[in-house]
Amino acid sequence: MKVLVTGGCGQLGMSLRRSFAAAQDDRPSSQDDRPSSQDDRHSAQDDNVILNEVKNLTAVFSDVIEAPDTTYLDITDLQAVRELVAKENVEAIINCAAYTNVEAAEDNYDLAERLNAKAVENLAVAMREAGGLLVHISTDYVFGKEPYNTPCKEDQKGTPTGVYGLTKLHGEEAILHSGVRHVIIRTAWLYSEYCKNFVKTMLQLTATKPSLKVVFDQVGTPTYAGDLAAAIMTILGSFAAAQDDSPSAQDDRPSSQDDRPSAHDDRPSAQDEVCHSERSEESHCGIFNYSNEGVCSWYDFAKAIAEYSGHASCDIRPCHSGEFPSKVLRPAYSVLDKTKIKETFGLRIPYWVDSLKECLSKML
Ligand SMILES: NC(=O)c1ccc[n+]([C@@H]2O[C@H](COP(=O)([O-])OP(=O)(O)OC[C@H]3O[C@@H](n4cnc5c(N)ncnc54)[C@H](OP(=O)(O)O)[C@@H]3O)[C@@H](O)[C@H]2O)c1
Repeated sequence: MKVLVTGGCGQLGMSLRRSFAAAQDDRPSSQDDRPSSQDDRHSAQDDNVILNEVKNLTAVFSDVIEAPDTTYLDITDLQAVRELVAKENVEAIINCAAYTNVEAAEDNYDLAERLNAKAVENLAVAMREAGGLLVHISTDYVFGKEPYNTPCKEDQKGTPTGVYGLTKLHGEEAILHSGVRHVIIRTAWLYSEYCKNFVKTMLQLTATKPSLKVVFDQVGTPTYAGDLAAAIMTILGSFAAAQDDSPSAQDDRPSSQDDRPSAHDDRPSAQDEVCHSERSEESHCGIFNYSNEGVCSWYDFAKAIAEYSGHASCDIRPCHSGEFPSKVLRPAYSVLDKTKIKETFGLRIPYWVDSLKECLSKML
């Protein structure tokens, strides 16, 4: 399957580069000594089929900056998206591009809407026209305003916390209205070895300051981008496996049964197989939550970063959000319920502390 990764120089895009390279080298992508990304409940046979499909995934990485191994693509330009999709025979897009500066979005509604909603519609249109799959990354900010205290499910209704959340919600709606085959993954608290993020900021602050305050009244779960990238690879592998299973794909394969007389009435008819294949793809489409396992506050997260990076001498104290005035109301409780993604794709998700250690081991 040929995949186009947009926003390929951002932190998730960079993590996907590593996952694609690892898949081709036949190495586990981010979870060296930790549980594999697939759940024990899935049969070994299913896992092998998906793993083989993952190895066959190839990618073109794009962004709006000049960088090595990066094709220039501004996703706000529908024609440019269409042309690249046609030129590269793209069968799936992973959209990692977004206007992600939550604070700045409050003063830049038009720009945020153009990138987080209109450009997402462009990708949906291009993939629908090509009969492909759109994997889009969204956020807990789409429902974060209400003070929930139980893990949020995908169908939970809520109010976005500000411009960023609202425009990301518009992006989700554009995909749902477009009719494209899609997987929308809502994630939260994303960090990695790459670009700017909370872990990198805390590493720098705890190394240089004797003390600092971090909010304890916002609770969620960190997401290591390496784990999310590995999960996306498994999801694409599942779709590729379902595609290979479809009758049209099987028609192209040489079959020892081609010349046999049709004495197999009890075999499923071609029509049954079409329905089966469509049904299995259909159940794989939709909105899914993904973060690491467990729950913590930003204070706990900062303490763990300091401890596992050898900066424990920095005195980190808990404080209330009100001590850091902001234009945006951040979700007070954004723990995501991940049952659906785990059951649908057989994913096994690492605990946030294990993933943090994994990320730090690559950085320190
Ligand atoms: N970061 C988080 O904590 C978090 C939490 C929940 C969900 N998410 C979602 O996860 C996804 C990935 O986030 P991330 O942290 O990896 O984002 P990121 O590091 O900000 O990367 C986004 C990339 O998109 C590029 N981009 C900007 N405008 C573009 C355009 N017109 N066309 C194509 N590319 C463009 C950016 O380039 P420039 O840098 O040059 O602008 C950047 O390389 C996003 O959808 C985000 O909303 C993130």
